[in-house]
Amino acid sequence: MKVLGIESSCDETSAAIVEIAGESLHVLSCVTASQDTLHEEYRGVVPEIASRAHLECIVPVVRAALAEANTTLGCIGGVASGTRPGLIGSLLVGTSAAKAIAWASDRPFVGVDHVGAHLVACLLDRPPAVWPALGLVVSGGHTSLFALGSPLEPTLLGATIDDAAGEAFDKAATILGLGYPGGARLDAAAELGDPERIPLPRTRLKGHDFSFSGLKTALALAHQRAPTEIGALAASFRLAVVDQLLDRTWRASEESAARTLLVGGGVAANALLRRELIHGCEARGIDLRLCDMRYCTDNAAMIAATGALRLQRGDRDGWDVVAEPLSSLARGRRGERRRAE
Ligand code: KG4
Ligand code: ZN
Repeated sequence: MKVLGIESSCDETSAAIVEIAGESLHVLSCVTASQDTLHEEYRGVVPEIASRAHLECIVPVVRAALAEANTTLGCIGGVASGTRPGLIGSLLVGTSAAKAIAWASDRPFVGVDHVGAHLVACLLDRPPAVWPALGLVVSGGHTSLFALGSPLEPTLLGATIDDAAGEAFDKAATILGLGYPGGARLDAAAELGDPERIPLPRTRLKGHDFSFSGLKTALALAHQRAPTEIGALAASFRLAVVDQLLDRTWRASEESAARTLLVGGGVAANALLRRELIHGCEARGIDLRLCDMRYCTDNAAMIAATGALRLQRGDRDGWDVVAEPLSSLARGRRGERRRAE
């Protein structure tokens, strides 16, 4: 069965076709229009600008995804959209479009939770995983650790109590004058710096929760003292974030029988995090399902794949399913993801 997925929760308009056969999820196309340049001057996503840009892009992006997959709506078995969490005006564009396409082509519709979809992204175009698993979602809006009995059943173990990891990277990049969106730029700057030169503190909460806002303040103070040491500050900040993510993940894996680890979300593109995860999972005998770089940041392939898994087990959502700012699976700090600040 082929499924059309639509993602519009924040500042990417994306459509994808994924084919499901048993447990295998094969991406036939994934077309994404980014709005980065529209929001850059505000150093954050401006919700009104985002919704308007989604409206302009949604139809051409869906058409391009169908064409790239060499298919038509007549060959699609169902339609999925990310209905939560996200900016409400943005979510409404993709969800309304998905419902309209499903209704007009007489196909079933399912709504998908975006945070859970970041974990399903780790399963795209890969051999089936062994369950149970642990799952780490590290994105611009969420930092959450899950236990999973199956791809559609994540149970929250812990989450950030303040900033998400991606949000912390973006704010740190702003402090260091690296521009927006800053996660990838800070990552690149950190590759050239010495992480030991200006040490930053580690946050160690009890349990599986995370916290990054104190680290951001420590970086701002260190930057005031050493304003020219951009590479060293970026490297030290990145190491402190990655240390915290790994500390919680390894602790959870010691307490769990799961031998599979899924890691998804925009921050899963981070070079140091990827290296350390590969190394740490090898040493612990864990089967690492690290999200392919193409599917770390927001994309519709993960929405189509989650929708395909739901449709395959017989789930159907009504036309009355609404877009919602909060995830049903994870806690967000303010419910919605980043806004321009
Ligand atoms: O998953 P995503 O596209 O959006 C949300 O669901 O929030 O994640 C975007 C986040 C941004 O905060 C961005 O700065 C961060 O992922 N990011 C990175 C890297 N690439 C993207 N953070 C650290 N290192 C990277 N290489
Ligand atoms: Zn996301």
